[in-house]
Amino acid sequence: MVKKNACIFISGKGSNLKNLIKKTRDYNFPINIKLVISNNKNAQGINYAKINSIPFLIINTKKRGFENLILEIIKKNKISLICLAGYMKIISKKFIREFRKKIINVHPSLLPNYKGLDTYNRVLKNKEKKTGCTIHFINEKLDDGKIINKKFFFINKDENLETLKIKTQKLERLAYPEAIIKLYRNR
Ligand code: GRF
Repeated sequence: MVKKNACIFISGKGSNLKNLIKKTRDYNFPINIKLVISNNKNAQGINYAKINSIPFLIINTKKRGFENLILEIIKKNKISLICLAGYMKIISKKFIREFRKKIINVHPSLLPNYKGLDTYNRVLKNKEKKTGCTIHFINEKLDDGKIINKKFFFINKDENLETLKIKTQKLERLAYPEAIIKLYRNR
């Protein structure tokens, strides 16, 4: 199969990146990770790019025109999918307009509920019965684009922030690759 070129944007730990790298070893997985971009030079996730010999780029988002630079590099690398994986910067409307291909994100709640930050805390405070993760397209509003995949679990009475996070992230490892497969099915 002809794989699509993907770029993964990270800011931190990179556990989703690590998982996606593992998946790309499968002949039938529809993407290859051509490039990793981090806005944080100390992001642990960069190490997964290093040990897997994937080119990576650290972008200084304080520099004017940094998005233009990313667009240029992405064009050069013939990237057709951008996967945000714990990327903590807002992607501008202009960037979304100009990239024109797919940009997807993983969010640690059952969207459209709990958009934005601090999701685990808010879910616990509101005594929700279930939570999970969502993979969705990016649009011009925060955590708002069309949903591609969702997974949930029921919340126990003794659940805390840490257990909630562990369970949600475990589901992300399943939901993100599944969403990517879904995107390119029957093409
Ligand atoms: C994930 O839990 C994701 O839901 C959120 O940020 C976290 C990133 O984790 N957007 P990692 O950097 O992939 O380990």
